[in-house]
Amino acid sequence: MAIYLDYAASVPINAEVLATFTEALTVSGNASSTHSFGQTSRMMLEESREQIALAVGCDRSEVIFTSGGTESDNLAIKGLFWQRRGEDSARNVIVSAYTEHHGVIDPIEWLETHEGAEVIWLPVLENGQVDLKALENVLLDRANEVALVSLMWANNETGVITDIQAVTALAAKHKIPVHSDAVAAFGHMSTNFADSGLAAMSITAHKVAGPVGVGALILSRASKVTSLIHGGGQERSVRSGTMNAAGAKAFAHAAELAVKNLDQHIRHTDSLLAKLRESIETSIAGARFSRADAPGLSMNAHYTFEGLKSDGLLFLLDQAGFAVSAGSACQAGVARASHVLLAMGRSEDEANACLRITFGLETTAADIDAFVQALVPAVESARQAN
Ligand SMILES: Cc1ncc(COP(=O)(O)O)c(C=O)c1O
Repeated sequence: MAIYLDYAASVPINAEVLATFTEALTVSGNASSTHSFGQTSRMMLEESREQIALAVGCDRSEVIFTSGGTESDNLAIKGLFWQRRGEDSARNVIVSAYTEHHGVIDPIEWLETHEGAEVIWLPVLENGQVDLKALENVLLDRANEVALVSLMWANNETGVITDIQAVTALAAKHKIPVHSDAVAAFGHMSTNFADSGLAAMSITAHKVAGPVGVGALILSRASKVTSLIHGGGQERSVRSGTMNAAGAKAFAHAAELAVKNLDQHIRHTDSLLAKLRESIETSIAGARFSRADAPGLSMNAHYTFEGLKSDGLLFLLDQAGFAVSAGSACQAGVARASHVLLAMGRSEDEANACLRITFGLETTAADIDAFVQALVPAVESARQAN
């Protein structure tokens, strides 16, 4: 049987969450209808909102349900940008970094092309951390022109963790809102919204063993966004469309379990990571752990292997029964160098030679042993084929 080591792409749905989801799907009624069916659906939605708020550390009025991380990122970035520039036309600058997920990079580049936004991509250090000194300088120089800062909490490719409180502390001096894509972080490290100082935070269910197609933008009560989807005025009029009450219920259950099991998850994946690193680094020459000394997610091991191409290695590992990836699943199938590694100053060859191994509570030490046993000859063959 194949072994799944691609948790950063999507965590397999939890059996209890699946049961909750399938039962919730049998509830009929539009949550906006006033009859009893609608009210049952509405109650389910509002209880789920409360449950997510508890898991995230925010007020329930701050939870805006969306279709997932990409939509939440778009809503936060375009919504905050248009809102702030609408209030003050001088605020035309977006500050971010090129290590972000395409769910953030692409809306920013779209605003640059179609809306005349000016974008400042912050420098990234060799270990994948964003240069916060550079952020401080940009904010000092351009404070009155910055509409927003968007920096992810944890990187989905390398697992590098950003010190979000340090970011929000810098931005707070100039009253600039910060959005964080916490899709890779939520449920895999501690991410309390109330303590973060963030204006907005994106999360999605399928990274915490919930279903695909439901997520949320956590938007602080003090922050306003221009809505992107107009219609029936649902979700504080920020995100119109009939609410996905069953998806919300499943997401809420998954989020609650993720937070409840967080300590155990971190302890378990920490020990798997140590084992994996020790085995890879003692048995494969030319293996480089991508984030080096930067703080990172314990469920993520990202490597480059000198002298090979990721797609060849992935093919061999798949044949051997291991599901891993080169980086962002959203780009899988398109053989492109990792934009994250390129932003970290690595060469095109290195950015084409990466492998991401991500795991969770269900992964065993035996899975890791079996994986490394398959990896050693696969790296050898991929190097010969190159
Ligand atoms: C960091 C990050 N942001 C955003 C997304 C997109 O989330 P979704 O798949 O829910 O649209 C992903 C998914 O891989 C991600 O890893």
